[in-house]
Amino acid sequence: MCGICCVVTLCSQRVIPDFLSEDTLHRLRRRGPDSSQQLIKTVSDLSYKCLFSGHVLHLRGLVTPQPLEDANNNVFLWNGEVFNGVHVGDLDNDTQVMFHHLTLCRSEEDILSLFSSLQGPWSFIYYQASRHSLWFGRDYFGRRSLLWQFSPEADSAFCLTSLSGYSEPGNQWQEVPASGIFKIDLKACAATKSLSLTLFPWKYWYTEKAAEETFINVLDQVSKDLPSHIHLVMNESKLCLRAPVIPLNTAVSEASGECPGTNSSNIIHVVSVETLQGFLAEEHKKKLVCQFIDVLNEAVKRRVLCLFRDQDQETREVPSMSHKKAHVAVLFSGGIDSMVIAALADKHVPLEEPIDLLNVAFMMKEQAKHKGTTKRHPNHEVQLDLLCPQETCQDLHAKSGAHLCCFDVPDRITGRAGLKELEAINPSRTWNFVEINVTLEELKKMRTQRINHLIYPLDTVLDDSIGCAIWFASRGEGFISSQGELKPYKSPAKVVLTGIGADEQLAGYSRHRVCFKKYGLEGLNKELEMELGRISSRNLGRDDRIIGDHGKEARFPFLDEDVVSFLNSLPVSEKADLTLPRGMGEKLLLRLAAKELGLTASTLLPKRALQFGSRIAKLESHREKASDTCSRLKLFSVGEL
Ligand SMILES: *[C@@H]1O[C@H](CO)[C@@H](O)[C@H](O)[C@H]1NC(C)=O
Ligand SMILES: *[C@@H]1O[C@H](CO)[C@@H](O)[C@H](O)[C@H]1NC(C)=O
Ligand SMILES: *[C@@H]1O[C@H](CO)[C@@H](O)[C@H](O)[C@H]1NC(C)=O
Ligand SMILES: *[C@@H]1O[C@H](CO)[C@@H](O)[C@H](O)[C@H]1NC(C)=O
Repeated sequence: MCGICCVVTLCSQRVIPDFLSEDTLHRLRRRGPDSSQQLIKTVSDLSYKCLFSGHVLHLRGLVTPQPLEDANNNVFLWNGEVFNGVHVGDLDNDTQVMFHHLTLCRSEEDILSLFSSLQGPWSFIYYQASRHSLWFGRDYFGRRSLLWQFSPEADSAFCLTSLSGYSEPGNQWQEVPASGIFKIDLKACAATKSLSLTLFPWKYWYTEKAAEETFINVLDQVSKDLPSHIHLVMNESKLCLRAPVIPLNTAVSEASGECPGTNSSNIIHVVSVETLQGFLAEEHKKKLVCQFIDVLNEAVKRRVLCLFRDQDQETREVPSMSHKKAHVAVLFSGGIDSMVIAALADKHVPLEEPIDLLNVAFMMKEQAKHKGTTKRHPNHEVQLDLLCPQETCQDLHAKSGAHLCCFDVPDRITGRAGLKELEAINPSRTWNFVEINVTLEELKKMRTQRINHLIYPLDTVLDDSIGCAIWFASRGEGFISSQGELKPYKSPAKVVLTGIGADEQLAGYSRHRVCFKKYGLEGLNKELEMELGRISSRNLGRDDRIIGDHGKEARFPFLDEDVVSFLNSLPVSEKADLTLPRGMGEKLLLRLAAKELGLTASTLLPKRALQFGSRIAKLESHREKASDTCSRLKLFSVGEL
């Protein structure tokens, strides 16, 4: 993961304005700790000036400092990973490879077809010197952050950056929409002293006839959030990018379309591993499950192998286990998504290398703890019962609070149980279960120092809870237990796998049940399609900024292009069956895959959102709605403090 930034002024006498504050530079450097460089291009006769700032986190090939520049003055900034589509050899760096391809592009079509063929997360900025063009954008799902800001004066400047943090009131930063890639003709803009952007939107390659309408919609969507002096146009020949995934299959078969409860004798009330086993006995289901495992397995494989492993580690005198450090970590709640990812990672991470399971817990309040034990939520009960083979569970009941540690939040309990399952699957692997305990004081301190700047420009209560939880989890600082003793541990893994995208595609949220009850499968399809469409602006930019802050890279196997295409190809009834009880019906296909991979109790855990599982949502204010603007995220300039 890298930090990239570009500031443009359309008036060469002006100094590069205050867009790029010391604070922002400092934060960019945290994302790219291995190399930082700046480059300024002044084109005096046309009176524009660009500053490029690149901060590199080294993950593969040789370290390639950014910005890259070639003999023809082209400049490239890349924050991405090419996982497929464009060949990158084992020892190559993908930045070089992408730059090389770009400089060979002779037309706009060439550039678009290059980005259409890519698989993997990316955001980029490319200055094409011969045409005085600046290109930039984010991948189809928006897995890498990129923000923009336009100065209020019509004539002057704008800035692109992986993250920001502070802006003058009335001059907001916004996430660059992941609706396509953009081009600015700097020569034309400098001449007219006004900014005009050309958008090349994503399009499914075979939906020709709907294209016109889609284009207009996308254009409207993007325009409405832009300041009024910024013009947004599309190329008159309607050039566009080819979406890297196929569209969602919205077919609803007669049989599966029937309303829940119409045939009550069919309804399964018992959530049990045997029931899952029963589904797997159906040949058709079993085949689908195997296909799903194959495609997800490949996605995980690419994500755990595509990174630099220290060669000389191998050649040290004793290649003993304890000398190996973890290169891969999983954001780990012990829930089904993280369990499946951990189990698949285990198949590909070299056996002598540990895998870090990052498990975050926020201190439960005393009285909340008390309530929690006397008036337990029914779902929580179900879960503990499910996990009950371990006596830990009995302990919990017996000691009812007295010895219940205040960090024993739901995700910690399921996390420990999940660890046992993984150890059973592969006892020779070192599984580092990293207990990350966060107190209210530390939460408050780090939020003000760092996290609120990373969440920005998002600002809701939900962004706060999830952003903070992911920040502490991905930092990886906690305790691991070794020989029955807890010792401090800091995860050195640069790659952090997360399960995001599973709920959106496999109907994992409880709102999906509500939607299904009200509007049936058609409604559910619409909801799922909408949720995947907005995942860039809801989650991914934010999570990239949060995790990147530790000099680590987030990777999302469920959002691999092949995984999404596979899931999109299936009718929704194959992915989930919301007539089945909670803990089974949602994400049914994934549960069956987990069962097939040898997982046990975790296959039947109901979804618990991170903010509740880690208890962060209970820590501060209780009366808020998730969608409210979060008062704790307010940013202040140093001057105001
Ligand atoms: C990056 O990789 C290219 C090959 O793709 C290589 O030629 C180049 O030397 C590498 N860059 C650096 C700075 O080592
Ligand atoms: C639109 O695309 C065509 C084909 O690549 C190109 O010739 C033309 O210059 C583009 N128009 C603008 C305004 O960029
Ligand atoms: C309900 O399901 C049972 C078992 O699958 C089947 O035998 C019965 O015919 C169904 N009843 C109706 C009304 O569809
Ligand atoms: C962290 O919390 C766990 C409970 O989940 C507890 O057992 C452990 O002792 C705590 N670690 C530290 C260092 O306080």
